[in-house]
Amino acid sequence: PQNVGILAMEIYFPPTCIQQDTLEDFDGVSKGKYTIGLGQDCMAFCSEVEDVISMGLTAVTSLLEKYGVDPKQIGRLEVGSETVIDKSKSIKTFLMTIFEDCGNTDIEGVDSTNACYGGTAALLNCVNWVESNSWDGRYGLVVCTDSAVYAEGPARPTGGAAAIAMLIGPDAPIAFESKFRASHMSHVYDFYKPDLASEYPVVDGKLSQTCYLMALESCYKGYCQKYEKLQGKQFSIADADYFVFHSPYNKLVQKSFARLVFSDVARSASSVDESAKEKLGQFTSLTGDESYNNRDLEKASQQVAKPHYDVKVQPGTLICKQVGNMYTASIYAAFASLIHNKNSSLDGNRVMMFSYGSGLSATMFSLRLSEGKAPFSLSNIAKVMNVDEKLKRRTELSPEKFVEIMKVMEHRYGGKDFVTSKDTTLLAPDTYYLTEVDSKYRRYYAKK
Ligand code: ACO
Repeated sequence: PQNVGILAMEIYFPPTCIQQDTLEDFDGVSKGKYTIGLGQDCMAFCSEVEDVISMGLTAVTSLLEKYGVDPKQIGRLEVGSETVIDKSKSIKTFLMTIFEDCGNTDIEGVDSTNACYGGTAALLNCVNWVESNSWDGRYGLVVCTDSAVYAEGPARPTGGAAAIAMLIGPDAPIAFESKFRASHMSHVYDFYKPDLASEYPVVDGKLSQTCYLMALESCYKGYCQKYEKLQGKQFSIADADYFVFHSPYNKLVQKSFARLVFSDVARSASSVDESAKEKLGQFTSLTGDESYNNRDLEKASQQVAKPHYDVKVQPGTLICKQVGNMYTASIYAAFASLIHNKNSSLDGNRVMMFSYGSGLSATMFSLRLSEGKAPFSLSNIAKVMNVDEKLKRRTELSPEKFVEIMKVMEHRYGGKDFVTSKDTTLLAPDTYYLTEVDSKYRRYYAKK
């Protein structure tokens, strides 16, 4: 099979959200800390009728229906998530209800978990499957679904929630450049969930930022080396049209792209202009560790990167700024933003992707885009995702209500024997929702 990659996408995020500037006032932090400091506008969260399974069910059924894909045509289904609902039973098995109804139980794949990286693991598995000998000619389906919630404190505004479904197959408008791929994996305690009774992570925020940037640099170097070996020429940011990053909050994305610009200067890439060399050259003698904590370098590189950021990164930031960190779905929500903003004009473009999951695992890979043929075309993907409309029809809740919902969810996490309010007023038609968890922890869902 040729040009294996993403044929179709659908995104779902809860209609319930809170504005970051409202949260700033409520939390009593300095004005601008969340909106400018973290670069976030709004944050979505699940109410008591939604969870990662209901969001996954909604995204998958909507994708199959809107692209006219028969559930029998799916041969592999992989889920990436770090929101543990059950220590044994995979989220994938819940999604099987959709396929069992059509008599299709012959579907490989289960869940992948490692913080925000699980979705990329699932995606690479599906792409590898289609490219392999065991491929049976049917589609792969990847679902990234997460609800990111943090305990009260500085990390709380970096929450979010969403599910993304992606259809994988040959002749895709979004094709993998499978030979160019570099990973960085290592053992660190930057963000982890050791307390199985709590949905909240233990997080060392500062360490997680440094780990992210180190992993980024390591992957970029690896990617450049592989590219140069196979293509016989240097790679630099000039060789890609867009850069898409895992986005816990937008400020980290700004810093990440600036780091790549600095990396090009440090590698003396031929595309680097004189003014960038002049402004950043002085920092190339810093050791790796020094460079991650140097504020002057951070400022100077962000300034040099700014005009490139506006062109190559900004078009892929809308959903992440509006919805927040969606963990495994974040990088694909960033990519969805790019398709939403640029759709057909991406024909012929190369998009760089950087996926990071704490703990840690990270991969940089690249995609080659072409318009494709309907229903699997860039313009149709943008149309189906209908991002503007989904953002517009959300309901802003007050911070008091938000905190109240967080409390209910804390209490219910891992719990049994309860029914939800079944209040679906805020949900769009066809959205799945949680109705009950019985005395044996079995979960029940319904469709609006
Ligand atoms: N106006 C403008 N900017 C402000 C203001 C203000 N009033 N107040 C603060 N800022 C800036 C700060 O200068 C800082 O920016 P800088 O990094 O460019 O200097 C930024 O806002 C954040 O302020 P901090 O004081 O650094 O924030 P704090 O330490 O309280 O929390 C953090 C931020 C660590 C990101 C926290 O939200 C967190 O732990 N989040 C979860 C961890 C995370 O997402 N890590 C990312 C990778 S791992 C993953 O994806 C889960």
